[in-house]
Amino acid sequence: MYKKIIRPILFKFNPETAHRITIFSLKILRYIPFGKKILEDLFTYDRPGLKRNILDLEFRNPIGIAAGLDKNAECFDILSHMGLGFIEVGTVTPLGQSGNPKPRLFRLIKDKALINRMGFNNEGARHVVRNIKKLRKGCAKGVVIGGNVGKNTATDNFNAPEDYLKAFSALYNYVDYFTVNVSCPNVTNLCGLQNKDGVFAILEKLTSFRAEMSIRKPIFLKISSDLGIQQIETMVDVVKESGIDGMVAVNTTTTREGLLTPETVIENIGRGGLSGAPLTERSIAVVKHICEYSQNAFPVIGVGGIMKVEDAQRMLDAGASLVQIYSGYIYNGPSFPKKICKAIE
Ligand SMILES: Cc1cc2nc3c(=O)[nH]c(=O)nc-3n(C[C@H](O)[C@H](O)[C@H](O)COP(=O)(O)O)c2cc1C
Repeated sequence: MYKKIIRPILFKFNPETAHRITIFSLKILRYIPFGKKILEDLFTYDRPGLKRNILDLEFRNPIGIAAGLDKNAECFDILSHMGLGFIEVGTVTPLGQSGNPKPRLFRLIKDKALINRMGFNNEGARHVVRNIKKLRKGCAKGVVIGGNVGKNTATDNFNAPEDYLKAFSALYNYVDYFTVNVSCPNVTNLCGLQNKDGVFAILEKLTSFRAEMSIRKPIFLKISSDLGIQQIETMVDVVKESGIDGMVAVNTTTTREGLLTPETVIENIGRGGLSGAPLTERSIAVVKHICEYSQNAFPVIGVGGIMKVEDAQRMLDAGASLVQIYSGYIYNGPSFPKKICKAIE
């Protein structure tokens, strides 16, 4: 149904409009009698063997939605009834910002990929907290909600730790875990924070804040897919030394190798982060290396190019404790998590 009817309709619109239509449709489902029950019946595959306990959080299953799909926490309550084990909202910045000029999201259909340069468009931490407070009670049981935090584009890297702390502290009481995003290629100079000192300065602020709180919420560091081996190992060392809890690997890539889409089309699109099928091998290799190098010292959330059920299985085999999907959800539709769950049970 999705691939034959819904996707062809959605793909007639430009990708960002299609995204808005999807979010709007999900929000409408909130008002349909038995809407959530119908979604549970259609898309959920609950089995005891799929449950995961990671860092004292109970996940219904290990398949989640990656950051960027529900940036403003508008529809995570509905998504939670659609067979997912967790949903990461954001990236949330302290103040709302409009992001980069449009167009900024593109489909590469031949490559089963997307290119985006959204640039942290979001309504800001206060607005997102308001949404979470309102919608959280409508969430399915056993579905974990993560908050992905970042800095405002106007904030320079020197003042970045303060921004991360503002978003983190605003969300602290309302989400179950955090992801610190220093790896988005679409915010000027953000990846410049992805070095030992840059990341430490941010994490130190967050762990100090957390130490004062009565509940300890897990913190993950999300890294780029474009890091070399040495840089990945530095990030693993930082995770261990800073006392945070895990890693999310990986964010989109700025590389454009081996694509089937004609070069002229790619050139016309311009800069942005590539996601989807071209990322599969890289993301699995990065997760495998993190798990080997760290000797499984902490949980890793594997993300990037999970387009087939086998990709999810390979990501888990590489050592990921949990798997996130984004482009795979756009191309495969809402039954994708259920298909993965059935296969990995
Ligand atoms: C349109 C779009 C927006 C995204 N926005 C964010 C974001 O705000 N924060 C973030 O950490 N990752 C963001 N991502 C990256 C995804 O979370 C994920 O890491 C990446 O897309 C690779 O997974 P995939 O191949 O399954 O799409 C975005 C991806 C896309 C396609």
